Amino acid sequence: MKYFSMFLLTILLLGCQTEEKQEVYKVSSPNKEIEVGFGLSKSGEAYYSVVFNKKVIVDTSSLGFDFTNTKSFSDSLMVVNTETKSFNETWQMPWGEQLDVVNHYNELKIQLEETSSLKRKMNLIFKVYDDGIGFRYEFPEQENFKEALISEENTEFNLNEDYKTFWIPGDWDIYEHLYNTTKLSQVDAISKRNHPNLAQTHIPNNAVNTPVTMVGSDGTHLSFHEAALVDFSGMTLQVDTENLDLKSVLVGSENTEYKVKKIVPFETPWRTIQITKDAPSLIESRLIVNLNEPNKIGDVSWFTPMKYTGVWWEMHLGKSSWDYGMTQDMSTWTEGGKSNGTHGATTANVKNYIDFSAKNNIGGVLVEGWNTGWEHWIGFEDREGVFDFVTPYPDYDIEEVVRYGKEKGVQVIMHHETSAATETYTKQQDTAYALMQSLGMHAVKTGYVGKILPKGEYHHGQYMVNHYNNAVIKAAGYQVAINAHEPIKATGLRRTYPNTISREGLRGQEFNAWATDGGNPPEHLPIVAFTRMLAGPIDYTPGIFDIKFDDYKKDNQVNTTLGQQLALYVVIYSPVQMAADLVEHYESRPDALQFIKDVGVDWEATDVLDGAVGDFVVIARKERQTGNWFVGGITDENSRTIDLDFSFLEEGVTYKASIYKDGKDAHWDTNPTSLEIEHMEITKDSKMTLELAEGGGFAISLMK
Ligand code: NOJ
Ligand code: CA
Repeated sequence: MKYFSMFLLTILLLGCQTEEKQEVYKVSSPNKEIEVGFGLSKSGEAYYSVVFNKKVIVDTSSLGFDFTNTKSFSDSLMVVNTETKSFNETWQMPWGEQLDVVNHYNELKIQLEETSSLKRKMNLIFKVYDDGIGFRYEFPEQENFKEALISEENTEFNLNEDYKTFWIPGDWDIYEHLYNTTKLSQVDAISKRNHPNLAQTHIPNNAVNTPVTMVGSDGTHLSFHEAALVDFSGMTLQVDTENLDLKSVLVGSENTEYKVKKIVPFETPWRTIQITKDAPSLIESRLIVNLNEPNKIGDVSWFTPMKYTGVWWEMHLGKSSWDYGMTQDMSTWTEGGKSNGTHGATTANVKNYIDFSAKNNIGGVLVEGWNTGWEHWIGFEDREGVFDFVTPYPDYDIEEVVRYGKEKGVQVIMHHETSAATETYTKQQDTAYALMQSLGMHAVKTGYVGKILPKGEYHHGQYMVNHYNNAVIKAAGYQVAINAHEPIKATGLRRTYPNTISREGLRGQEFNAWATDGGNPPEHLPIVAFTRMLAGPIDYTPGIFDIKFDDYKKDNQVNTTLGQQLALYVVIYSPVQMAADLVEHYESRPDALQFIKDVGVDWEATDVLDGAVGDFVVIARKERQTGNWFVGGITDENSRTIDLDFSFLEEGVTYKASIYKDGKDAHWDTNPTSLEIEHMEITKDSKMTLELAEGGGFAISLMK
């Protein structure tokens, strides 16, 4: 690790740029392609700008805060000091898209002070990487500012182009929206309110959630997000469609006038812009994790990345129920009628999944609906105290199931549906995680369906950010890793707390089982790969083989080919990757199942071979330990020809390749399960042309 402190960069003091703007300080990326400028206007307002290869990405944009307990931090500022430094280290991910991560940036720190009587202080820190920038505000300890009740953050991103924009609405409660593709000037988030398939939504502004990705006419790719979201509320970006301006709007609460409460000293999350010259480089960018602090929880060898099956899809299909005595109708999220004898989480059923997993190189089985309380899951106002996370239903013997799993080398994954009753969950965490530890269970999937209790809080506000982060920190003490559904967005905290293994935070596969709007369209995942996936691992739950599942639901289906379902094991990154379909559906397609059996889940290297946001993506990943490579490619509703070049492979090695590709007549709707499988030898010099069907994909295993 190299650390060069102090003044390695030249700060350019350019003097008056215009009459209005003064004192421009600049810092550029190690490769000099990205440059950030900072300055003050005559009245002492802070502004910044970002240039990429001479193109202005962010034009003069203001910075600052409004408070409920003191005057705004916006003008009368002077620069009292500046510092620059360069940093270059290589760190290792305990598991991830790659082993070694280069963290190389130039930093500019500006110390500001008010010229007015209060003389409050605020610092701005810019880190400029080859793949983008991050900046944060820091409020140092000071005499006249002890507590900040922030009513709004006024960070502007003044853009100069009407970018093609891939966005979801700036919902304060849920990220489970379909992506929209429009010009920036046509963003209309307000029209996405009141989604019929969501148990909660709150979209107060014409704002988008992050990551929001944009493509420029010259091929420049941008993605706006945040890193290290700790003890703050999530940031949405309000779109001024006339001026092509984005402005931070923090998620608030109905219980306080302010949106964020902080004791000085404090620092904000990083505001980030990934800036690349093409689409593949966006996925290869590690800006978000790099902006987070190193591991704070020490040894994490107790968790192993794994594929998993689960008592899960069967509930979403309506084959079985979470509860013991009633079923919920997932398509309307209301409480359904009585139906006995359909409980999914029985000892015998779970053992069946364990047997199947053990036979197929799958390391875990998730069990949902194992604990009492599901009768009161949805539709009850007072959800506090309903779940206790330790009491199994009478037909589920948790000790026996865990013991049986151990015998077969399969871990049982715990499930905690909190129903967003956060006080109950906070109270129960020690008991719940201690039970897991006593049974040797190391992973839990959590859920936060419904409106947050206490009333008035939102999923993405400061209260919940702290709830999600505290759960991860507490769980680490019990050697428990968390995969949260209905989560707060991923902001790279997996570097600091690696037990933040995965999360939902998008429209997952489950929507295909019950959404009344036709499910996730074929373009969904070719957008997700360049938006949501830039934030971090996704528990999408791929691998549905019975694409139409007419035996269960005539009006719903998965909108991809079987080939694409296989490709997702490579395209979508998560250290827990579900084989989501029913055992019997896998057993009827042993040919395709072979890919799931072989595919890795933890990677030494990731190479994004090709892609265009919203159209298609092709990714190659090298498995740790074995050195085997896997390639996955997916397309949207358009068929596509992909030319593959295997030059990423190791010199001098001949790989045994199995190619799983769409059949000639495959189509996501009319013939989704048509799949051709070919076996051949492949080397670094091999080339291949693949035809992807509409909504299709391919998967290749390359075994040494
Ligand atoms: C919503 C989650 O996304 C889903 O995976 C889970 O099965 C249900 N909640 C029940 O917890
Ligand atoms: Ca969900």
